[in-house]
Amino acid sequence: MKIIAVGSPKGGVGKTTTAVTLAVIAAQAGLRVLLVDGDANASTMDWAGTAGDEIPLDVYAASDPHELAKLRAADEYDLMVVDLPGARVGAFEAILSGDGGRPVPDLLLVPTTHEILDLRPVMRVVRDELIPLDMAHLIVMTNVPTAALPQARRQRALVLDAGAGHRFADTIIRDYKIYNEAVENGMTVLDIPGRRPSARKAEADYRALATEAFAAVDITLPATEETDRG
Ligand SMILES: Nc1ncnc2c1ncn2[C@@H]1O[C@H](COP(=O)(O)OP(=O)(O)OP(=O)(O)O)[C@@H](O)[C@H]1O
Ligand SMILES: [Mg+2]
Repeated sequence: MKIIAVGSPKGGVGKTTTAVTLAVIAAQAGLRVLLVDGDANASTMDWAGTAGDEIPLDVYAASDPHELAKLRAADEYDLMVVDLPGARVGAFEAILSGDGGRPVPDLLLVPTTHEILDLRPVMRVVRDELIPLDMAHLIVMTNVPTAALPQARRQRALVLDAGAGHRFADTIIRDYKIYNEAVENGMTVLDIPGRRPSARKAEADYRALATEAFAAVDITLPATEETDRG
């Protein structure tokens, strides 16, 4: 069983969207998935409530750090995806100090926009809280307008050049209005009816991110019939 947590010191950067979408991708590919809502705001639980029985996974609320620490015991799942709260300080404390000093997740995804005001505190938290623990992580740039992709890649290169140990996902999640529509309807961008171009692009972004994140924890998804990335 593998655990991927999604957390960031910034709010509204796509943590819940990332956790829910990756969990659904894994579940639709046939993995047994538990989606854990570690945020007292319960956005993931809200989403699951709207989605109802349509979702092929289990959902569980565990905002108590002690409960998060014990997640690894639930071995009837192949994958757990944990949506962490967006606290400014100690965003990762609960999950990192989990199991007798052993971090709970196998991988921590850290969404941020490419804007310097978001990126700086994220760099700091990763440097101070994750790198010293050797915590496997991927910083994921999200909500990036297509026109700003070159700028986002430049920002990423600057951080990598500094050589402090930050790791980034290759995939950059682009900004599309379709995400709000998906949330309102308890869906993900994978399930928007009508196959609109922006939904397909959003889906392609998250499938690419899923491939990277799952590979990092040694999960290879069986090929699905939904291969509209080309
Ligand atoms: N790539 C994207 N492009 C455009 N909008 C997005 C994108 N990802 C998420 N959103 C929208 O941005 C809002 C915030 O996303 P989300 O709830 O996933 O962020 P969060 O980091 O979990 O927020 P919080 O800190 O409140 O928990 C939602 O309305 C969501 O639909
Ligand atoms: Mg959230």
